[in-house]
Amino acid sequence: MSVQEQIKRFTAPDIRARKGGDPIVSLTSYHAHTARLVDRYCDVILVGDSLGMVMHGLETTVPVTLDMMILQGLAVMRGSSRALVVVDMPFGSYEASKEQAFMNAARVMKETGCGAIKMEGGRRLAETVRFLTERGVPVMGHIGLTPQSINTIGSFRAQGREEKDWEPIEDDARAVAEAGAFSLVVEAVAEPLARRITEQVAIPTIGIGASAACDGQILVLEDMLGLTPRVPRFVKRYGDLGPGIEAAVAGYANDVRARAFPGNEHVYSMKKK
Ligand code: KIV
Repeated sequence: MSVQEQIKRFTAPDIRARKGGDPIVSLTSYHAHTARLVDRYCDVILVGDSLGMVMHGLETTVPVTLDMMILQGLAVMRGSSRALVVVDMPFGSYEASKEQAFMNAARVMKETGCGAIKMEGGRRLAETVRFLTERGVPVMGHIGLTPQSINTIGSFRAQGREEKDWEPIEDDARAVAEAGAFSLVVEAVAEPLARRITEQVAIPTIGIGASAACDGQILVLEDMLGLTPRVPRFVKRYGDLGPGIEAAVAGYANDVRARAFPGNEHVYSMKKK
C-alpha cells in the first residue's frame, strides 16, 4: 500500500467552521505560478473577476466572461493543492434566474474542479443562494460594495458611510447567510458596520476595506504587491515589485543592446569539459 501522504484541500465546511476562530487568510490569484506561491499561506484563494482589470486592463469587471473565469480557475487549481479555491461568477452569468445560476455554477465547478463559487448581491440573491447550496454548490456571498453593479451605483465609493444607510446592508448580510452561504465577503463598508455584520451573522465574514474585526481578510494579490497602477486607499502594500521588475527588464534590454547578452556560451563551455 502506498504511504504517500495525500494533501487535503480546505473545503467550504472547513472555512464555515472558522467562524469566530483563527482568522481566515485569503488572497486573489489568477495564474498557476502565483497560486503556487500563495497556497502555502492562504486558507482561501479567490479567482476574482478583478482579473478583468488586473490581467486585461479593463476599466470594470462588467465585460468579464464565464470562459475567462474558467480558464484562470483551472490554472489556479493546477498551481495549488491546499487552499480552498473559490471562483467568481461574472456579471450576467447568474442574475437572470436561479436555474441560470445553477447551470453556470455547475459548469465552473465541473470544468475547474474548484471547491466553491462567489456571487455578488444581498437580499435579491438569497433565493439563488439557497437553490445552489441545496444542490451541492457551496456559495461565498459578497455584499457592501459590489463592483459588478458599477453602472447602477455610479462609483466605487465605500458603502454605508452614514449610519442611516446601515440597515439595508445588514439585511443583505443576514439574508445571504440565512440562505446557506458558507462565508461572506464584506467589501468597502464603514468599520463599525462591518463589525456589526460580523457579530450578527453565523458565517465567517471576509473583509476587504472593512474591519479588522471580520473573521478573515482578502486582498487582490497584485494590489498588495505594488503591481497595479491604481489601488484602493485601504490597501496596505506588503511589497513593491513594480520597480524590481522594471529594473530587471531594463538590465536585460541593456545587455541585449550592448551585445553583452550571455547567449549559449556557458552551455558550450560545459560540453567541452
Ligand atoms: O474580484 C475580486 O477580486 C473580489 C475581491 C475584491 C473580493 O471580488
